[in-house]
Amino acid sequence: MAEAPRPGPEARTASGWPARLVLATNNRGKLQEVAAILGAAGVTVVGSAAVAPGWSVVEDGATLAANARRKAESLARLTGLPALGDDSGLEVAALGGRPGVRSARYAGAHATDAENTARLLRELAGVPDAERAAAFRCALVLAWPDGRSVEAEGRCDGFIATTPRGEGGFGYDPVFVDPASGRTFAELPAAAKNALSHRRRALDALVRALDAAGGGRS
Ligand code: IMP
Repeated sequence: MAEAPRPGPEARTASGWPARLVLATNNRGKLQEVAAILGAAGVTVVGSAAVAPGWSVVEDGATLAANARRKAESLARLTGLPALGDDSGLEVAALGGRPGVRSARYAGAHATDAENTARLLRELAGVPDAERAAAFRCALVLAWPDGRSVEAEGRCDGFIATTPRGEGGFGYDPVFVDPASGRTFAELPAAAKNALSHRRRALDALVRALDAAGGGRS
């Protein structure tokens, strides 16, 4: 973790979050999920498109956490608002942890979700169910314009289906199966995915990190 934050002058919710923050992403699926989860905690989440149209960063960090930090710090500097960076990836055991930090570009620099998912299924063709274990990982960095930051990670285990199923979610959700329900993340109602996802776990861990750093509950 970087420099320990102290309570800043900005308004905070009872759970320690800034009352208003900007999410450092151009991904509408992530924005919907984070706004739903943090909205329930009283946080107003603004998308980067609303406050910094055209903003983007090169995601060439070696780790999810490095990319999340790059996104958060760049947008906090640009907007003067607390910024939350999210970098996520899917790790598949049978592929030695790929696509991992390259999940967004697995099928090429400007690949669509469908193209990335199709490549994944091709590479896993013939791999039996028992060897299709996978995990979603999410790294979060909350950065303030004055340089303070906290970070956390979350993880969710499951396995990869043989064909895409479901209309909800985004990214690899149609092929990621939640073992408890047997349904893909795209088949689960949004609230059910948000209750158990890697992103939810990372957000919960970030609240604990805020608390531990002294910027939390009062
Ligand atoms: P990034 O974090 O924006 O770089 O996204 C990494 C890749 O993982 C992209 O292809 C996303 O669509 C995908 N991804 C990120 N989070 C999720 C998720 O919650 N479900 C499914 N795919 C995701």
